[in-house]
Amino acid sequence: MAKDVIVACDFASADETIKFLDKVTRIRDEVVACDHVNLAKRPFVKIGMELFYAEGPQIIKTLKDRGHKVFLDLKLHDIPNTVKKTMQVLGSYGVDMVNLHAAGGIEMMEAAKAGLMLGAARFSEKPKLIAVTQLTSTDEEIMHRELLIDKPLDEVVRQYALNAKEAGLDGVVCSAFEAAEVHDFCGADFLTVTPGIRLSKDGADDQKRVMTPAEAKAAGSDYIVVGRPITAADKPSDAYAEVVEAFL
Ligand code: C5P
Repeated sequence: MAKDVIVACDFASADETIKFLDKVTRIRDEVVACDHVNLAKRPFVKIGMELFYAEGPQIIKTLKDRGHKVFLDLKLHDIPNTVKKTMQVLGSYGVDMVNLHAAGGIEMMEAAKAGLMLGAARFSEKPKLIAVTQLTSTDEEIMHRELLIDKPLDEVVRQYALNAKEAGLDGVVCSAFEAAEVHDFCGADFLTVTPGIRLSKDGADDQKRVMTPAEAKAAGSDYIVVGRPITAADKPSDAYAEVVEAFL
């Protein structure tokens, strides 16, 4: 199973993103050169709403042309027909991973998968479709008090993951705390993509449930998504190297 560190490029512009990636890519070259793991040379990056809406699809082409794998994190959540057509467009961009909210239900997720595969028909390597279970900024108290979901958090995550699997998705975005349970319920091949990662010295920012890269590895995460611990570090390249060495 491919494991990798996905760097969340939560920047406002393509310029800022490329400047940042130039720094961490050099480190990737060094780590990959002396490592046994067979990885793409460029860091796997995550493009979120801010950058995608600011720069449009060109940002994906720019990153793909530079050799990066791209996780397009737009977290779709709408009626099945709208999500299907939108996923078809996203699939045509050649993204490697894309996501939606499992809260949209099984029919929406099935429609998303069908649309994505139509859009990506010309690519031999098909994009992974991943469902968000609960945002890592949401805790059980928020779920109970604001969302009126009175089940325990782990039960909700488990059910959403099972729904995603039933709909034919490749995996879920979840907290690393839930990775082992998701694998138990949905199988070892069902991918767990886990944000909410912090180097031990970091503060949690707005994340409620956090783990270090080494803890996430031990918990069985397939991909960790790391943003501010790298992007806001004094030396992003050192922080990236530390994360990669601890996780891979
Ligand atoms: O900076 P930080 O490491 O907290 O960034 C985490 C990234 O993962 C952000 O881009 C955030 O949008 C994303 N994410 C998350 N929780 C989810 C899904 C995505 O934090 N459930």
